[in-house]
Amino acid sequence: MNVTFKKLNFVLCFLLLINCLKAQNNKNGMVVCAYPDASKIGVDILKKDGNAVDAAVAVQFALAVVHPSAGNIGGGGFMVFRSSKGETNTLDFREKAPARATTNMYLDAEGNIIPDLSLASHMASGVPGSVDGMVEAHHKYGKLKWADLVQPAIDLATNGYKITARLAGELNRTHDTFIKANPGKPYALVKKDEQWKEGDVLVQADLAKTLELIRDNGRAGFYGGRVADEIVAEMKLGNGLISKTDLANYHAVWRKAIKGSYKNYNIITMPPPSSGGIALLQLLKSVEKYPLHRWGYNQDSTVRLIVEAERRVYADRSTYLGDPDFYKVPVDSLLRPAYIDSRMSSFSWNAATPSSSIQAGKFVGYESDQTTHYSIVDKDGNAVAITTTLNGSYGSKIFVGGAGFLLNNEMDDFSSKPGTPNMYGLIGGRANRIQPGKRMLSCMTPTIVEKDGKLFMVVGTPGGATIITSVFQTILNVIEFDMNMQDAVAAKRFHHQWLPDNIQSERGALNAGTRTKLEKKGYPVKEQGAIGRVDGILKTKEGYEGGADPRGDDTKLGW
Ligand code: GLY
Repeated sequence: MNVTFKKLNFVLCFLLLINCLKAQNNKNGMVVCAYPDASKIGVDILKKDGNAVDAAVAVQFALAVVHPSAGNIGGGGFMVFRSSKGETNTLDFREKAPARATTNMYLDAEGNIIPDLSLASHMASGVPGSVDGMVEAHHKYGKLKWADLVQPAIDLATNGYKITARLAGELNRTHDTFIKANPGKPYALVKKDEQWKEGDVLVQADLAKTLELIRDNGRAGFYGGRVADEIVAEMKLGNGLISKTDLANYHAVWRKAIKGSYKNYNIITMPPPSSGGIALLQLLKSVEKYPLHRWGYNQDSTVRLIVEAERRVYADRSTYLGDPDFYKVPVDSLLRPAYIDSRMSSFSWNAATPSSSIQAGKFVGYESDQTTHYSIVDKDGNAVAITTTLNGSYGSKIFVGGAGFLLNNEMDDFSSKPGTPNMYGLIGGRANRIQPGKRMLSCMTPTIVEKDGKLFMVVGTPGGATIITSVFQTILNVIEFDMNMQDAVAAKRFHHQWLPDNIQSERGALNAGTRTKLEKKGYPVKEQGAIGRVDGILKTKEGYEGGADPRGDDTKLGW
C-alpha cells in the first residue's frame, strides 16, 4: 500500500515537472495584447481548451473594457487566421460609411474641409463592425460557448479592474475632451473632482449591461434592440448619420488572404480595404535582393533602402487602394515583381529621390493612433492576428449615452478631399472617396509569416500610417537582423510615407553618425515619440516566444 502510494506520488511529481517545463517554453500557446488583464483572460480561455479564435473573442471584449482608447465594440478591425493545418482566411469587420454619407460631407460651400467634422463629431463615426466580426469569427471557428467568451469582459466591467499608471495618465489627459464631447452625460471614464491614479478600480456598469445583451443575444444584442436605439438616439444629438437600417445591414465579410514571399518565408496578410497587406508585400519585395543582413539594423544603407521603398509604396497607396467592393484595386499589378523592380529602378545611392518626383506607378492595361493589435496561438498551432481600431485615441470621444461605449471616428480614414491629408497625413483620391456603405481604407496589417511552410510569426500593431512600416521593420528585425521577438518589437523604428517628405524617427532610432550621413544625402529626419505598439509571437524550437511592446502596457502570457 505504502509502495503504491509512493509510486503514485512519484508519477504525479513527474507529470507536474513535465507541465512546468512545457509552461516555461510556452508550448501550449500564447496571447500577446495591449493590457495584462486581457492577456490573462485570453490564456485562461486557451487553458479551458478554447482555440485561438475563442481566445481572440474573449480578448476583444476584454480590451473593450480595459483598453478603452482602442479596444472597442464601437469600432472595427481585421482578422488574419491560419489553422494548424495551414488553411488561411481573413475577416473584414471594418466600419462602413452610413447610407446617408456623401462624398463631400466634410466640405464647406467653398469646397474646403470643415475642421474636425470627420474626427470629433457625431458625423465622424462609421457603422461599427467589431461585434459582428466576433460573432462571425466564433460562428465559423469557435469551439467554446459564446456566452463563456463574453462573460469575462462583463465581470471586468461589473467588478472593475485596477488601472495602470499609464491608463490613469491617459484618462486624466483626456478628461476635459470627454466632458466637452459629452455634455451632461455621466460616464465611467470620467472622474468628477479628482484625478485617476495607478491602482484605482474602474467600474463600467453601463458597458457591462451592453455586454450582457451581446452575451445573451449575439449580434442582435448590439445591432438591434436597446443598444441600436441608444446609438440612433446618440446620433440625433449631433447630426450623426448612423440609422437603425445601417446597423441592421452591417455584416462582416470573409475575404481571401493575400499572400507573398520574402526569401523562404510566406507572408499571409490582409487584403483591401486594408492597404497594409499589399504595401507590406510590396515593401518586402522591394528590399529582398539587397544585403540587409550585412548592412545591419538601422545603418544608413539600410535606412535609405527602406525609406526609398516606403516612399514609392505609399505613393501607390494614395492612388490605387480603397474598398474592393466599390473600387477595382489592381492587386495583381501592384504585386507583380517586375512592377516592383521598375519602381525601385529610380533609386540612387547618390541622393534621395524627392517625393515630388514620385507619383503612383502606371500599369499597362489597368482599367482603371489609436488602434490595437493582438496575436494568439493555441496548443494545436492555430494562429490569429487581429488589429482593431476606433481610429483616434478614444475614437470620436463621444460615448453612446446609457450604453457605455465609445464611438469610432473612422470616417476620417476616407479621403474627404482628394490630395488633402487626413489625421495621419495620408493622401487619397477617387479610390478612397466617401460613398454610402463603403469601407474606409485602412493601414491595419495583421500578418502571419510561415517559414518553410510552417507557422513562424504572428504580428501586427496600431499606429495609423506607421502600422505598415512598423510591421515591415519588425519582420526584418527577426529575419535579417537576428533579433528575438521581444527585441524585434522593442527595437526603435522609423517611418516614411511619401508625403510629407521626411523620415519620422523615434528618438534614438538613428545614431548621430547615421543621421548626419542621411541628411547629407537629402533625407531630412524628424524625431518623435513612440511609433506603434507591436505585439508578436514567434515559433521557436522550444515553443512560443512573445514580443510585448514596452511602449505600452502590452503583456505576453504563455502556458
Ligand atoms: N484607423 C487607422 C487605420 O485603420 O489604418
